[in-house]
Amino acid sequence: MPTTRPSGRQFAADFLWGSATASYQIEGAATEGGRGPSIWDTFSARPGAVLNGDTGAVAADHYHRVAEDVALMQRLGLQAYRLSIAWPRVQPDGSGAWNDEGIAFYVDLVDRLVEAGIAPVVTLYHWDLPQPLEDAGGWGNRETAYRFADYARKMAEVLGDKVTVWTTLNEPWCSAYLGYASGVHAPGRTEPATALAAVHHLNLAHGLAARAVREVLGDAAQVSITLNLHVTRAASDAPEDVAAKREVDTVANEVFLQPLLEGRYPEQVFAQTAHLTDWSFVQDGDLELIRVPIDLLGVNYYSTGKVRRGTPPVGDGTPGPDGHRSSVVSPWVGCDDVEWLPLPGPHTAMGWNIEPEGLTELLLDLHRRYPGLPMAVTENGAAFYDEVSADGRVHDLPRVEYLHDHIDAVGAAMDAGADVRGYFVWSLMDNFEWAYGYDRRFGIIRVDYPTGERTLKDSALWYRDLVATRTIAPAETAATLS
Ligand code: NOJ
Repeated sequence: MPTTRPSGRQFAADFLWGSATASYQIEGAATEGGRGPSIWDTFSARPGAVLNGDTGAVAADHYHRVAEDVALMQRLGLQAYRLSIAWPRVQPDGSGAWNDEGIAFYVDLVDRLVEAGIAPVVTLYHWDLPQPLEDAGGWGNRETAYRFADYARKMAEVLGDKVTVWTTLNEPWCSAYLGYASGVHAPGRTEPATALAAVHHLNLAHGLAARAVREVLGDAAQVSITLNLHVTRAASDAPEDVAAKREVDTVANEVFLQPLLEGRYPEQVFAQTAHLTDWSFVQDGDLELIRVPIDLLGVNYYSTGKVRRGTPPVGDGTPGPDGHRSSVVSPWVGCDDVEWLPLPGPHTAMGWNIEPEGLTELLLDLHRRYPGLPMAVTENGAAFYDEVSADGRVHDLPRVEYLHDHIDAVGAAMDAGADVRGYFVWSLMDNFEWAYGYDRRFGIIRVDYPTGERTLKDSALWYRDLVATRTIAPAETAATLS
Protein backbone atom coordinates (compact mmCIF):
# COMPACT_ATOMS: atom_id res chain seq x y z
CA MET A 1 0.00 0.00 0.00
CA PRO A 2 2.21 2.89 -1.13
CA THR A 3 1.27 6.30 0.19
CA THR A 4 -0.65 8.32 -2.29
CA ARG A 5 -0.66 11.69 -0.58
CA PRO A 6 2.25 14.13 -0.39
CA SER A 7 4.53 14.30 2.65
CA GLY A 8 5.66 17.50 4.29
CA ARG A 9 2.43 18.99 5.60
CA GLN A 10 2.97 20.91 8.80
CA PHE A 11 0.42 21.34 11.60
CA ALA A 12 -0.02 24.34 13.91
CA ALA A 13 1.60 24.34 17.34
CA ASP A 14 -1.72 24.15 19.16
CA PHE A 15 -2.89 20.97 17.38
CA LEU A 16 -3.00 18.16 19.96
CA TRP A 17 -1.31 14.84 19.19
CA GLY A 18 -2.30 11.80 21.17
CA SER A 19 -3.02 8.13 21.20
CA ALA A 20 -5.96 6.14 22.49
CA THR A 21 -6.83 2.93 24.31
CA ALA A 22 -9.82 1.53 26.21
CA SER A 23 -10.02 -0.10 29.62
CA TYR A 24 -11.25 -3.59 28.74
CA GLN A 25 -8.91 -3.79 25.77
CA ILE A 26 -5.70 -3.18 27.73
CA GLU A 27 -6.09 -3.36 31.50
CA GLY A 28 -6.49 -7.05 32.30
CA ALA A 29 -6.72 -7.64 36.09
CA ALA A 30 -10.39 -8.34 35.52
CA THR A 31 -10.93 -9.77 38.99
CA GLU A 32 -8.39 -7.68 40.89
CA GLY A 33 -8.70 -4.59 43.01
CA GLY A 34 -12.39 -5.10 43.73
CA ARG A 35 -13.47 -4.82 40.08
CA GLY A 36 -16.88 -6.27 39.33
CA PRO A 37 -17.72 -8.22 36.17
CA SER A 38 -18.60 -6.34 33.01
CA ILE A 39 -20.69 -7.51 30.09
CA TRP A 40 -17.46 -8.19 28.21
CA ASP A 41 -16.24 -10.64 30.88
CA THR A 42 -19.52 -12.51 30.56
CA PHE A 43 -19.67 -12.34 26.79
CA SER A 44 -16.09 -13.38 26.09
CA ALA A 45 -16.56 -16.44 28.32
CA ARG A 46 -19.32 -17.62 25.98
CA PRO A 47 -18.03 -20.30 23.58
CA GLY A 48 -17.62 -18.95 20.06
CA ALA A 49 -18.31 -15.33 21.00
CA VAL A 50 -14.72 -14.16 20.56
CA LEU A 51 -12.24 -15.48 18.02
CA ASN A 52 -9.94 -18.14 19.51
CA GLY A 53 -11.80 -17.93 22.82
CA ASP A 54 -9.78 -14.83 23.79
CA THR A 55 -10.86 -12.66 26.73
CA GLY A 56 -9.71 -9.41 28.34
CA ALA A 57 -8.77 -11.16 31.59
CA VAL A 58 -5.08 -10.31 31.15
CA ALA A 59 -5.07 -8.21 27.94
CA ALA A 60 -1.99 -5.97 27.75
CA ASP A 61 -1.65 -6.12 31.55
CA HIS A 62 -1.78 -2.33 31.68
CA TYR A 63 -3.24 -2.47 35.20
CA HIS A 64 0.15 -3.66 36.46
CA ARG A 65 2.25 -1.64 34.03
CA VAL A 66 0.93 1.88 34.36
CA ALA A 67 4.32 3.41 35.19
CA GLU A 68 5.98 1.73 32.21
CA ASP A 69 3.18 2.72 29.85
CA VAL A 70 3.18 6.37 30.89
CA ALA A 71 6.97 6.38 30.46
CA LEU A 72 6.51 5.05 26.92
CA MET A 73 3.99 7.79 26.16
CA GLN A 74 6.55 10.31 27.37
CA ARG A 75 9.19 8.75 25.18
CA LEU A 76 6.87 9.27 22.22
CA GLY A 77 6.29 12.86 23.28
CA LEU A 78 2.51 12.37 23.35
CA GLN A 79 0.65 15.53 24.29
CA ALA A 80 -2.59 13.73 25.15
CA TYR A 81 -3.72 10.25 26.07
CA ARG A 82 -7.27 9.09 25.49
CA LEU A 83 -8.11 6.44 28.09
CA SER A 84 -11.37 5.00 29.30
CA ILE A 85 -12.53 4.25 32.81
CA ALA A 86 -13.92 0.79 33.53
CA TRP A 87 -17.19 1.55 35.26
CA PRO A 88 -17.23 -1.86 37.05
CA ARG A 89 -13.82 -1.06 38.52
CA VAL A 90 -15.09 2.04 40.26
CA GLN A 91 -18.66 0.88 40.94
CA PRO A 92 -18.81 -2.92 40.73
CA ASP A 93 -22.62 -3.16 40.66
CA GLY A 94 -23.17 -0.12 38.44
CA SER A 95 -25.17 1.42 41.31
CA GLY A 96 -24.63 1.82 45.02
CA ALA A 97 -21.20 1.37 46.59
CA TRP A 98 -18.02 2.83 45.11
CA ASN A 99 -14.82 0.81 45.01
CA ASP A 100 -12.07 2.97 46.47
CA GLU A 101 -9.30 0.77 45.13
CA GLY A 102 -10.62 1.10 41.58
CA ILE A 103 -11.03 4.84 41.94
CA ALA A 104 -7.46 5.08 43.28
CA PHE A 105 -6.20 3.32 40.14
CA TYR A 106 -7.58 6.06 37.88
CA VAL A 107 -6.55 8.89 40.22
CA ASP A 108 -3.02 7.51 40.10
CA LEU A 109 -3.07 7.13 36.31
CA VAL A 110 -4.40 10.65 35.75
CA ASP A 111 -1.90 12.09 38.25
CA ARG A 112 0.95 10.37 36.45
CA LEU A 113 -0.23 11.75 33.10
CA VAL A 114 -0.54 15.28 34.43
CA GLU A 115 2.89 14.97 36.03
CA ALA A 116 4.28 13.82 32.68
CA GLY A 117 2.69 16.77 30.88
CA ILE A 118 0.23 14.53 29.00
CA ALA A 119 -3.36 15.77 28.83
CA PRO A 120 -5.84 13.10 30.04
CA VAL A 121 -8.77 12.75 27.64
CA VAL A 122 -11.17 10.52 29.54
CA THR A 123 -13.96 8.40 28.11
CA LEU A 124 -16.50 7.34 30.70
CA TYR A 125 -18.01 4.48 28.72
CA HIS A 126 -16.07 2.38 26.26
CA TRP A 127 -18.41 -0.63 26.35
CA ASP A 128 -17.66 -2.33 29.69
CA LEU A 129 -21.08 -2.07 31.32
CA PRO A 130 -21.31 -3.52 34.85
CA GLN A 131 -22.97 -6.93 34.47
CA PRO A 132 -25.63 -6.27 37.16
CA LEU A 133 -26.96 -3.42 35.02
CA GLU A 134 -27.23 -5.73 32.03
CA ASP A 135 -29.06 -8.23 34.22
CA ALA A 136 -31.58 -5.45 34.84
CA GLY A 137 -32.03 -4.84 31.10
CA GLY A 138 -28.81 -3.07 30.11
CA TRP A 139 -29.11 -0.24 27.62
CA GLY A 140 -32.60 -1.43 26.82
CA ASN A 141 -33.57 -0.15 30.26
CA ARG A 142 -33.93 3.60 30.71
CA GLU A 143 -32.65 3.33 34.28
CA THR A 144 -29.16 2.58 32.96
CA ALA A 145 -28.93 6.16 31.70
CA TYR A 146 -29.55 7.52 35.19
CA ARG A 147 -27.01 5.14 36.73
CA PHE A 148 -24.50 6.33 34.13
CA ALA A 149 -25.09 9.96 35.11
CA ASP A 150 -24.46 9.10 38.80
CA TYR A 151 -21.20 7.44 37.83
CA ALA A 152 -20.19 10.39 35.63
CA ARG A 153 -20.87 12.79 38.50
CA LYS A 154 -18.72 10.72 40.84
CA MET A 155 -15.80 10.65 38.40
CA ALA A 156 -16.05 14.41 37.88
CA GLU A 157 -15.91 14.87 41.66
CA VAL A 158 -12.94 12.54 41.99
CA LEU A 159 -10.81 13.57 39.00
CA GLY A 160 -11.99 17.17 38.79
CA ASP A 161 -10.13 19.59 36.61
CA LYS A 162 -7.17 17.26 36.05
CA VAL A 163 -9.12 15.87 33.09
CA THR A 164 -8.72 17.93 29.93
CA VAL A 165 -11.69 16.49 28.03
CA TRP A 166 -14.60 14.42 29.35
CA THR A 167 -16.06 12.10 26.76
CA THR A 168 -19.32 10.52 27.79
CA LEU A 169 -19.66 7.62 25.33
CA ASN A 170 -17.47 5.93 22.77
CA GLU A 171 -19.23 4.79 19.60
CA PRO A 172 -22.78 4.30 20.88
CA TRP A 173 -23.52 2.81 17.44
CA CYS A 174 -21.52 -0.27 18.44
CA SER A 175 -23.03 -0.47 21.92
CA ALA A 176 -26.55 -0.41 20.52
CA TYR A 177 -26.45 -2.31 17.25
CA LEU A 178 -23.55 -4.74 17.70
CA GLY A 179 -24.53 -5.35 21.32
CA TYR A 180 -28.30 -5.70 20.95
CA ALA A 181 -29.09 -6.38 17.26
CA SER A 182 -26.39 -8.50 15.62
CA GLY A 183 -25.11 -9.57 19.04
CA VAL A 184 -21.50 -9.86 17.90
CA HIS A 185 -20.53 -7.61 20.81
CA ALA A 186 -21.51 -7.86 24.46
CA PRO A 187 -24.10 -8.46 25.74
CA GLY A 188 -24.72 -10.55 22.61
CA ARG A 189 -28.46 -10.00 22.32
CA THR A 190 -30.23 -10.23 18.96
CA GLU A 191 -33.25 -8.00 19.50
CA PRO A 192 -33.45 -5.20 16.91
CA ALA A 193 -36.23 -3.38 18.77
CA THR A 194 -34.15 -3.35 21.95
CA ALA A 195 -31.23 -1.96 19.93
CA LEU A 196 -33.35 1.06 19.01
CA ALA A 197 -34.32 1.60 22.65
CA ALA A 198 -30.60 1.31 23.44
CA VAL A 199 -29.83 4.06 20.91
CA HIS A 200 -32.19 6.38 22.73
CA HIS A 201 -31.06 5.43 26.22
CA LEU A 202 -27.42 5.93 25.21
CA ASN A 203 -28.28 9.38 23.85
CA LEU A 204 -30.11 10.14 27.08
CA ALA A 205 -27.16 8.83 29.11
CA HIS A 206 -24.90 11.23 27.25
CA GLY A 207 -27.16 14.20 27.97
CA LEU A 208 -27.57 13.39 31.64
CA ALA A 209 -23.87 12.64 32.15
CA ALA A 210 -22.70 15.76 30.29
CA ARG A 211 -24.96 17.84 32.51
CA ALA A 212 -23.72 16.08 35.65
CA VAL A 213 -20.08 16.75 34.74
CA ARG A 214 -20.85 20.43 34.12
CA GLU A 215 -22.80 20.70 37.38
CA VAL A 216 -19.75 19.50 39.27
CA LEU A 217 -17.01 21.25 37.32
CA GLY A 218 -18.74 24.28 35.86
CA ASP A 219 -18.64 25.52 32.31
CA ALA A 220 -14.86 25.25 32.15
CA ALA A 221 -15.21 21.47 31.79
CA GLN A 222 -14.72 20.35 28.20
CA VAL A 223 -17.45 17.84 27.39
CA SER A 224 -17.63 15.62 24.33
CA ILE A 225 -18.95 12.44 22.80
CA THR A 226 -17.18 10.19 20.31
CA LEU A 227 -19.13 8.80 17.35
CA ASN A 228 -18.17 6.33 14.64
CA LEU A 229 -19.96 8.09 11.83
CA HIS A 230 -20.21 5.91 8.74
CA VAL A 231 -19.09 7.20 5.36
CA THR A 232 -21.26 5.14 3.05
CA ARG A 233 -21.59 5.55 -0.67
CA ALA A 234 -24.41 4.46 -2.94
CA ALA A 235 -23.36 1.93 -5.60
CA SER A 236 -25.09 4.00 -8.28
CA ASP A 237 -27.24 7.07 -8.81
CA ALA A 238 -30.31 4.88 -9.20
CA PRO A 239 -33.01 6.13 -6.81
CA GLU A 240 -33.21 2.77 -5.02
CA ASP A 241 -29.47 2.74 -4.30
CA VAL A 242 -29.53 6.34 -3.14
CA ALA A 243 -32.45 5.45 -0.88
CA ALA A 244 -30.48 2.48 0.49
CA LYS A 245 -27.61 4.78 1.41
CA ARG A 246 -30.02 7.19 3.09
CA GLU A 247 -31.47 4.36 5.17
CA VAL A 248 -27.99 3.46 6.38
CA ASP A 249 -27.11 7.09 7.11
CA THR A 250 -30.31 7.43 9.11
CA VAL A 251 -29.72 4.57 11.55
CA ALA A 252 -25.92 4.89 11.60
CA ASN A 253 -25.38 8.63 11.83
CA GLU A 254 -28.56 10.67 12.03
CA VAL A 255 -30.03 8.96 15.11
CA PHE A 256 -27.02 10.28 17.01
CA LEU A 257 -26.12 13.56 15.30
CA GLN A 258 -29.62 14.99 15.14
CA PRO A 259 -30.70 14.43 18.75
CA LEU A 260 -27.28 15.40 20.13
CA LEU A 261 -26.79 18.53 18.06
CA GLU A 262 -30.26 19.49 16.87
CA GLY A 263 -32.59 18.14 19.55
CA ARG A 264 -34.70 15.87 17.35
CA TYR A 265 -34.78 12.43 15.77
CA PRO A 266 -34.87 12.25 11.98
CA GLU A 267 -38.44 11.75 10.78
CA GLN A 268 -37.26 9.01 8.45
CA VAL A 269 -36.19 6.71 11.27
CA PHE A 270 -39.75 6.39 12.56
CA ALA A 271 -41.03 5.14 9.21
CA GLN A 272 -37.98 2.99 8.61
CA THR A 273 -38.37 1.14 11.92
CA ALA A 274 -42.16 1.30 12.37
CA HIS A 275 -42.42 -2.50 12.08
CA LEU A 276 -40.15 -2.84 15.12
CA THR A 277 -41.11 -0.09 17.55
CA ASP A 278 -43.31 2.96 18.02
CA TRP A 279 -40.43 4.81 19.73
CA SER A 280 -42.55 5.29 22.86
CA PHE A 281 -39.35 5.01 24.87
CA VAL A 282 -38.72 8.65 23.92
CA GLN A 283 -40.36 10.58 26.73
CA ASP A 284 -41.34 14.23 26.95
CA GLY A 285 -38.30 16.36 27.71
CA ASP A 286 -35.75 13.75 26.68
CA LEU A 287 -34.63 15.59 23.57
CA GLU A 288 -34.01 18.78 25.54
CA LEU A 289 -31.83 16.77 27.92
CA ILE A 290 -29.94 15.11 25.09
CA ARG A 291 -29.16 18.30 23.26
CA VAL A 292 -26.62 19.63 25.71
CA PRO A 293 -23.99 21.92 24.16
CA ILE A 294 -20.76 20.02 23.61
CA ASP A 295 -17.28 21.49 23.44
CA LEU A 296 -15.89 18.90 21.06
CA LEU A 297 -17.18 16.17 18.79
CA GLY A 298 -14.95 13.09 18.74
CA VAL A 299 -14.81 11.41 15.36
CA ASN A 300 -13.54 7.85 14.96
CA TYR A 301 -12.71 6.92 11.39
CA TYR A 302 -11.26 3.83 9.78
CA SER A 303 -12.92 3.05 6.47
CA THR A 304 -15.83 3.55 4.08
CA GLY A 305 -18.70 1.39 2.86
CA LYS A 306 -20.75 0.92 -0.29
CA VAL A 307 -24.39 -0.13 -0.51
CA ARG A 308 -27.18 -0.81 -2.94
CA ARG A 309 -30.74 -2.06 -2.79
CA GLY A 310 -30.47 -5.75 -1.98
CA THR A 311 -30.16 -8.16 0.93
CA PRO A 312 -28.57 -7.22 4.27
CA PRO A 313 -25.44 -8.96 5.56
CA VAL A 314 -26.36 -11.99 7.62
CA GLY A 315 -24.15 -14.99 8.18
CA ASP A 316 -22.13 -17.14 10.45
CA GLY A 317 -19.62 -14.96 12.26
CA THR A 318 -17.20 -14.42 9.40
CA PRO A 319 -16.55 -10.76 8.53
CA GLY A 320 -19.24 -9.29 6.34
CA PRO A 321 -18.77 -6.69 3.60
CA ASP A 322 -20.01 -4.06 6.07
CA GLY A 323 -16.83 -4.61 8.08
CA HIS A 324 -18.40 -6.39 11.04
CA ARG A 325 -18.60 -10.03 12.04
CA SER A 326 -21.74 -11.36 10.48
CA SER A 327 -24.60 -12.74 12.51
CA VAL A 328 -27.98 -14.31 11.88
CA VAL A 329 -29.38 -10.87 12.68
CA SER A 330 -28.09 -7.82 10.83
CA PRO A 331 -26.81 -4.85 12.83
CA TRP A 332 -28.44 -2.67 10.18
CA VAL A 333 -31.75 -2.27 11.96
CA GLY A 334 -34.40 -0.87 9.65
CA CYS A 335 -32.25 -1.46 6.56
CA ASP A 336 -33.97 -4.65 5.51
CA ASP A 337 -33.27 -4.24 1.79
CA VAL A 338 -29.74 -2.93 1.86
CA GLU A 339 -26.83 -4.91 0.52
CA TRP A 340 -23.21 -4.13 1.42
CA LEU A 341 -20.71 -4.51 -1.37
CA PRO A 342 -17.09 -5.57 -1.06
CA LEU A 343 -14.76 -2.73 -1.98
CA PRO A 344 -11.74 -3.06 -4.21
CA GLY A 345 -8.31 -1.70 -3.31
CA PRO A 346 -6.11 -2.10 -0.25
CA HIS A 347 -7.54 -3.41 2.99
CA THR A 348 -6.25 -3.77 6.53
CA ALA A 349 -6.28 -7.06 8.43
CA MET A 350 -9.80 -6.20 9.58
CA GLY A 351 -10.90 -6.46 5.96
CA TRP A 352 -11.60 -2.72 5.99
CA ASN A 353 -10.79 -0.78 2.83
CA ILE A 354 -8.31 2.05 3.07
CA GLU A 355 -9.69 5.37 1.90
CA PRO A 356 -8.21 8.48 3.54
CA GLU A 357 -10.38 10.77 1.40
CA GLY A 358 -13.38 9.51 3.36
CA LEU A 359 -11.99 11.20 6.47
CA THR A 360 -11.61 14.56 4.73
CA GLU A 361 -15.13 14.20 3.38
CA LEU A 362 -16.59 13.32 6.79
CA LEU A 363 -14.90 16.20 8.62
CA LEU A 364 -15.96 18.67 5.93
CA ASP A 365 -19.50 17.38 5.92
CA LEU A 366 -19.70 17.89 9.70
CA HIS A 367 -18.13 21.34 9.32
CA ARG A 368 -20.77 22.31 6.74
CA ARG A 369 -23.64 20.97 8.79
CA TYR A 370 -22.47 22.28 12.16
CA PRO A 371 -20.32 25.36 11.43
CA GLY A 372 -17.95 26.20 14.25
CA LEU A 373 -18.23 22.80 15.92
CA PRO A 374 -14.78 21.87 17.23
CA MET A 375 -13.81 18.30 16.39
CA ALA A 376 -11.02 15.87 17.14
CA VAL A 377 -10.19 12.62 15.42
CA THR A 378 -10.36 10.49 18.55
CA GLU A 379 -9.49 7.24 16.77
CA ASN A 380 -7.81 6.35 13.52
CA GLY A 381 -5.42 3.52 12.82
CA ALA A 382 -4.92 0.17 11.19
CA ALA A 383 -4.71 -3.48 12.19
CA PHE A 384 -2.17 -5.74 10.56
CA TYR A 385 -0.68 -9.10 11.38
CA ASP A 386 2.64 -7.58 12.42
CA GLU A 387 5.75 -9.74 12.63
CA VAL A 388 8.91 -9.15 14.62
CA SER A 389 11.87 -8.97 12.22
CA ALA A 390 15.24 -10.65 12.68
CA ASP A 391 16.60 -7.33 13.95
CA GLY A 392 14.04 -7.44 16.77
CA ARG A 393 12.02 -4.54 15.35
CA VAL A 394 8.54 -4.33 13.92
CA HIS A 395 8.80 -2.76 10.48
CA ASP A 396 5.14 -1.92 10.10
CA LEU A 397 5.39 0.18 6.96
CA PRO A 398 1.73 -0.41 5.95
CA ARG A 399 0.60 1.11 9.26
CA VAL A 400 2.92 4.10 8.82
CA GLU A 401 1.52 4.60 5.32
CA TYR A 402 -2.01 4.40 6.65
CA LEU A 403 -1.29 7.00 9.35
CA HIS A 404 0.62 9.21 6.91
CA ASP A 405 -2.27 9.36 4.47
CA HIS A 406 -5.00 9.79 7.05
CA ILE A 407 -3.19 12.52 8.97
CA ASP A 408 -2.68 14.33 5.69
CA ALA A 409 -6.39 13.88 5.01
CA VAL A 410 -7.14 15.59 8.35
CA GLY A 411 -4.89 18.47 7.29
CA ALA A 412 -6.76 18.73 4.00
CA ALA A 413 -10.06 19.07 5.86
CA MET A 414 -8.55 21.77 8.06
CA ASP A 415 -7.29 23.64 5.00
CA ALA A 416 -10.87 23.67 3.77
CA GLY A 417 -12.12 25.13 7.04
CA ALA A 418 -12.89 22.24 9.40
CA ASP A 419 -12.09 23.07 13.02
CA VAL A 420 -10.11 19.97 14.03
CA ARG A 421 -8.26 20.29 17.33
CA GLY A 422 -6.40 17.02 17.64
CA TYR A 423 -5.66 13.52 16.42
CA PHE A 424 -5.39 10.27 18.38
CA VAL A 425 -3.85 7.14 16.91
CA TRP A 426 -5.71 3.93 17.62
CA SER A 427 -4.00 2.41 19.37
CA LEU A 428 -1.15 3.13 21.72
CA MET A 429 -0.54 -0.59 22.10
CA ASP A 430 -1.75 -3.92 20.76
CA ASN A 431 -4.87 -4.99 22.60
CA PHE A 432 -8.05 -7.05 22.81
CA GLU A 433 -9.87 -6.24 19.56
CA TRP A 434 -13.32 -7.21 20.84
CA ALA A 435 -14.90 -10.08 18.86
CA TYR A 436 -11.57 -10.58 17.06
CA GLY A 437 -9.49 -11.14 20.20
CA TYR A 438 -5.73 -10.67 19.91
CA ASP A 439 -4.77 -11.86 16.46
CA ARG A 440 -5.13 -8.52 14.64
CA ARG A 441 -2.89 -5.82 16.02
CA PHE A 442 -3.71 -2.10 16.08
CA GLY A 443 -0.87 -0.86 18.33
CA ILE A 444 2.01 1.43 17.48
CA ILE A 445 3.62 -0.35 20.43
CA ARG A 446 3.84 -4.12 20.16
CA VAL A 447 2.68 -6.19 23.10
CA ASP A 448 4.09 -9.68 23.34
CA TYR A 449 1.50 -12.13 24.65
CA PRO A 450 1.66 -13.52 27.25
CA THR A 451 4.79 -11.82 28.64
CA GLY A 452 3.36 -8.34 28.11
CA GLU A 453 6.72 -7.06 26.93
CA ARG A 454 6.44 -3.80 24.94
CA THR A 455 8.40 -2.88 21.80
CA LEU A 456 8.08 0.39 19.91
CA LYS A 457 7.12 -0.39 16.31
CA ASP A 458 8.47 1.74 13.47
CA SER A 459 5.08 3.47 13.41
CA ALA A 460 5.64 4.63 17.00
CA LEU A 461 9.02 6.13 16.09
CA TRP A 462 7.54 7.81 13.04
CA TYR A 463 4.65 9.19 15.10
CA ARG A 464 7.13 10.41 17.78
CA ASP A 465 8.91 12.43 15.10
CA LEU A 466 5.64 13.76 13.74
CA VAL A 467 4.65 14.97 17.20
CA ALA A 468 8.07 16.57 17.68
CA THR A 469 8.21 18.31 14.30
CA ARG A 470 4.46 18.65 13.56
CA THR A 471 5.45 17.68 10.04
CA ILE A 472 4.43 14.56 8.12
CA ALA A 473 7.61 12.74 7.12
CA PRO A 474 7.68 10.22 4.25
CA ALA A 475 6.53 6.82 5.50
CA GLU A 476 9.63 5.01 4.22
CA THR A 477 11.83 6.96 6.63
CA ALA A 478 10.26 5.10 9.58
CA ALA A 479 12.53 2.06 9.32
CA THR A 480 15.63 4.24 9.63
CA LEU A 481 14.54 5.87 12.89
CA SER A 482 15.76 4.79 16.29
C1 NOJ B 1 -13.43 1.51 17.58
C2 NOJ B 1 -13.43 1.23 19.03
O1 NOJ B 1 -13.69 2.36 19.77
C3 NOJ B 1 -12.16 0.53 19.52
O2 NOJ B 1 -12.43 0.01 20.77
C4 NOJ B 1 -11.75 -0.52 18.51
O3 NOJ B 1 -10.68 -1.28 18.98
C5 NOJ B 1 -11.40 0.18 17.22
N1 NOJ B 1 -12.55 0.88 16.72
C6 NOJ B 1 -10.93 -0.77 16.12
O4 NOJ B 1 -11.93 -1.64 15.79
